[in-house]
Amino acid sequence: MSAVASTRSAPGKVILFGEHSVVYGHPAVATPVERTLTLTATLHDHGPDTRRKDPRLEAAVRTAARFFSFSPRRITTSIASDLPVGCGLGSSAALSVTLLRALADLAYGGPDRAEPLLERATAIEAAFHGTSSGLDVAAVALGGPVWFRRAPQPHATPLPIGRPFALVVATTPRERSTADQVRRMRGQAATRPEALDRHFTRLGALTRAGRDALRTGDLPALGLLLDEAHGVLADLGLSTPALEHAVTTARAAGALGAKLTGAGGGGAVIALAPDNAPAVASALRRTGYGAFTSRVGATARLHPQEM
Ligand code: PMV
Repeated sequence: MSAVASTRSAPGKVILFGEHSVVYGHPAVATPVERTLTLTATLHDHGPDTRRKDPRLEAAVRTAARFFSFSPRRITTSIASDLPVGCGLGSSAALSVTLLRALADLAYGGPDRAEPLLERATAIEAAFHGTSSGLDVAAVALGGPVWFRRAPQPHATPLPIGRPFALVVATTPRERSTADQVRRMRGQAATRPEALDRHFTRLGALTRAGRDALRTGDLPALGLLLDEAHGVLADLGLSTPALEHAVTTARAAGALGAKLTGAGGGGAVIALAPDNAPAVASALRRTGYGAFTSRVGATARLHPQEM
């Protein structure tokens, strides 16, 4: 019995601006974080005939295998990651992108430039979150800060950063479900459409202003915009006492701005700390949060045409 294997790595991500509003057509900005998921996919000649214990991973492999006409029963996977899971840091997007790239290696001996990576990785990620905007896979796949719109077609462009900076990422102990939070917003869209539209329009404007501050390297302005975006997300009911406490702790420790990142209802907070990341991270750790520092500002590794 013989087998061939391919190993691929991808970073996690954080959303700087536009979570939830991106689902309703507004733009968003996300960036990779310096934490990595590495996946090895092995294609066996004669199936080991395994099914994965995690039904979501099983569904993801089944979807990915179909793109290459592989039998999912002939594929085994192993994953190593230092990305916290279940708090909106992109572990399922990183898994989807690495799985797709590893299977493309096995099918074609390298990336298949003709295939729509964003679309396919988003379809694989549905095994974890249900339908998603594609923002997370775009940030993970592009490997640099990204400007993203879902409509009329999912479209990602690299976002140049005027001045590199450090973010502190704080995680709360409670896992939460992205799909649940997206469903909650859909409920509000049905019951109070005008209020929701107002909030999302504001988030869209903050995203554009955030893009400009990132481009020009105006970090004090960026901090204020992150604070305001957090306020809008909190108004939408997406914050929690633990997220509020993390945001306040980061600001009190000298962060220029802080907000929840990702779907909310638990999960993670980002704090802009260009000159004092160690102090902000220690303050968060002392208060009981997980915290790590990630630099933003690397240029994108891939050209959008390669996605
Ligand atoms: O999975 P998270 O926490 O990164 O949230 C995804 C971002 C949402 O805008 C809430 C959903 C989406 O599909 O874009």
